[in-house]
Amino acid sequence: MYKCHERMEAQEWSVVKCFDLIYINPEKIVLMQSYYVTTPIYYVNDEPHLGHMYTTIAADVLARYQRLSGKDVFFLTGVDEHGQKVQQAAEKRGIAPIELADQVVERYQSLWPELEISNDDFIRTSSPRHKAGVQAMWRRLENAGTIYKGFYEDWYCVPCEAYWTETQLKDADCLASDGLETNCLESKLCPDCKRAVEKIQEESYFFRLSAFQDRLIEHIKANPDFIAPASRRNEVLSFIESGLRDLSISRTTFSWGVPVPGDEKHVIYVWIDALTNYLSALGFPDSDQPAHWPADVHLIGKDILRFHAVYWPAMLMAAELPLPKRIYAHGWWTVEGEKMSKSRGNALRPAELLAQYDADVLRYFLLREVPFGQDGDFSFSALKQRYNSELANDVGNLLNRSLAMLNKYRDGLLGAVAEENEIDRALIADAQAMQREVADYMDKQSFHLVLERINAVVRHGNRYVEDNAPWVLAKQGDDARLDTVLYHLIEMLRLVALQLLPFMPEKMAAMLEQIMNRSVTVENCSFATDGGWGVLAAGHQCRKPEPLFPRMD
Ligand code: MSP
Repeated sequence: MYKCHERMEAQEWSVVKCFDLIYINPEKIVLMQSYYVTTPIYYVNDEPHLGHMYTTIAADVLARYQRLSGKDVFFLTGVDEHGQKVQQAAEKRGIAPIELADQVVERYQSLWPELEISNDDFIRTSSPRHKAGVQAMWRRLENAGTIYKGFYEDWYCVPCEAYWTETQLKDADCLASDGLETNCLESKLCPDCKRAVEKIQEESYFFRLSAFQDRLIEHIKANPDFIAPASRRNEVLSFIESGLRDLSISRTTFSWGVPVPGDEKHVIYVWIDALTNYLSALGFPDSDQPAHWPADVHLIGKDILRFHAVYWPAMLMAAELPLPKRIYAHGWWTVEGEKMSKSRGNALRPAELLAQYDADVLRYFLLREVPFGQDGDFSFSALKQRYNSELANDVGNLLNRSLAMLNKYRDGLLGAVAEENEIDRALIADAQAMQREVADYMDKQSFHLVLERINAVVRHGNRYVEDNAPWVLAKQGDDARLDTVLYHLIEMLRLVALQLLPFMPEKMAAMLEQIMNRSVTVENCSFATDGGWGVLAAGHQCRKPEPLFPRMD
């Protein structure tokens, strides 16, 4: 297989088209569109929790969906190992930062398969390939004349690894220790995370962020989908419009990071380091136009939007590289109404969840319960309720009763479709419309709408059973109509399972296997070959039903 990357001349930063040419045989050339999706790389000062699971599951669903759509997918996740926060966490434990990183990275790497995460690569920022990418990025910024040496004297929040000016602290509201509202400067708290900030005074290199203010505004205005959801886009615009200051991009008071090329007493600011992961994983700098760049979507949490939607695009502009197509900032989870925090000790850990629920059920719930861009609350009662009503009662039950009737009346064999009536045609039309609408919602990362739409077809299927009463048809000996009804039900369920496959890979593969009577894998399943109505032929043998979603008490 030969791959080559073709890049159209980029007049605008965002109009670079990525195609991989894949020669399957000398006569046939297949154009595959690239799809690159990323998660943030997670800090190794703490172990994975619900928030990390959430973004990674969402990215996995997109990756699986686009693979089924026939795209050449690259799905990246990884860990952010450098910076003062990680160094301090390691010091607290009396170990070297790399030892801490090695321990935590192991937790991530063993967790992702348990959650059925199908990432194509896993980037560690301590790896030589990444460090080379970061230093190359630094040199590009330097060669473009966007770096200068100066002195930084202002505030720094270690938990956020973020710089704050005196004015930003003064203008923001915080709660003082006596519970009274004060400005964050007085209480010396970070306006974002409300934890202690520290004063830094040190020599530092700066990036001319201010020089990119106008181009950033222009790009965001010209590309309405660049930052999603729309409310976040407006937030970013007003932040930029209020004036950008140059950014301090090196530190000298600790050493855990990538050294500045040519001035090794400085380490590169951890966000410059971390953001470059999206390129270093693709082989940058060795490949200047990595096949999958630009990213189709960077999925992130709302708290790290400024870094992704201001610093990162400005860096890319300076480095003369195309910008990602979209940055999607999702909301935050509370747990049973409370903010998750290390100090409260209520961070929801994956092990606790996986001990009680299948990965598929967690994946479904997290993307169904809360619209992706909004904050939401995780509660065990809500999970149980959704599971019982949507998975056990609706889809699970419809599968069971349909396969049970097919086995009871027809020994599991699909019959030929006789005449189709209005009710049949409405079901087919609904299932087909669902596929188109799901594709639109997926493009917008509107996962809850995808699931709502699929569920609507399932409810339609349940009504179809009631309206056609196959048990009556069997009793009356109306074989032609019985075959037609059972065929429509099974075919509709097959299309439902196919659309749900990215969300619940294991359960839906099992559902498809009961229907299709063969194993279902990424290699032998796609929307192109399996997405049409009528793929199952008369005479096809289905399996006996095996309950997928037993009710939870
Ligand atoms: N290392 C940086 C990201 C660098 S990307 C170039 C970082 N890491 S993090 O581990 O602190 O956070 C990773 C992600 O977890 C962020 O997107 C953040 O929004 C998300 N979440 C942390 N707590 C969360 C919730 N309670 N709910 C949902 N997501 C949350 O930031």
